[in-house]
Amino acid sequence: MKIPEPLIERLRAARHLVVLTGSGISAESGLPTFRDKQTGLWERFKPEDLATPHAFDKDPALVWGWYEWRRMKAARALPNPGHLAIKALEDLVPRLTLITQNVDDLHERAGNRVVLHLHGTLTNPICASCKRPFLLSPEVPNEPEGGRRVEPPRCSQCHGRIRPGVVWFGESLPQREWSVAQQAASECDVFACIGTSSLVYPAASLVRGPLNRRAVTIQINPGGTDLDARVTFDLRGPAGTVLPALVNGAFRTVDDNSRKAVE
Ligand code: APR
Repeated sequence: MKIPEPLIERLRAARHLVVLTGSGISAESGLPTFRDKQTGLWERFKPEDLATPHAFDKDPALVWGWYEWRRMKAARALPNPGHLAIKALEDLVPRLTLITQNVDDLHERAGNRVVLHLHGTLTNPICASCKRPFLLSPEVPNEPEGGRRVEPPRCSQCHGRIRPGVVWFGESLPQREWSVAQQAASECDVFACIGTSSLVYPAASLVRGPLNRRAVTIQINPGGTDLDARVTFDLRGPAGTVLPALVNGAFRTVDDNSRKAVE
């Protein structure tokens, strides 16, 4: 993919780059995005219908089973060249703040040291009643491909139901992560939205500051979003192809790094 020369120059000159990722960055690792059609037991449900406190109250085994299935998928997945290119950027720009809406740990497994998880993670469940953390067995769950209902475990302290440590629709974002993310968005000179539909708030509002003060804004997405006409550089394509081309174009190192890490 041909990367516009002005973008290459802006990236080389970046002092503080903020990267906001969404489920599209993990699509090439085999993890479905939130807009993809679901399969198996989940076929009848939209992710938005399962990722709510109401859905968990109504049918905890259905929702816990979905998260166990997703935890299995994420554990079996590998970081793809898009994740690895972001890791490469961490070492190439003076400062990088990585913010993700994803609940998988593929950025960490690509090597990024600090990742702000705005929507929590699959591996840190808590008690729905007393909020104490719950220690999961280190084994990867072995769920059937088509999914199944799984009764959530109970809290050893209060016997409440254990729920996923993620942020559901209608819930607040973790305070520390959100305030660090807002601060970074208000200070950065380059802001990149990668693999996100930019539809889910408040995460989608982070780019507003950089847009308003005319910082360099970049979108990487094979599909269109409301940001298409607003960002400085709209790169249409899969993150696993565009990001290595971008990093390679600006710094000429990523191919070797990704190859080493992927093989
Ligand atoms: N590379 C880059 N982007 C991709 C790729 C790819 N290979 N494949 C798909 N995409 C894009 C899609 O075009 C879409 O715009 O990724 C985006 C995924 O959008 P969503 O599924 O809406 O995911 P996201 O933006 O992360 O959703 C935000 O919503 O449901 C909640 O908590 C959930 O974190 C999630 C949040």
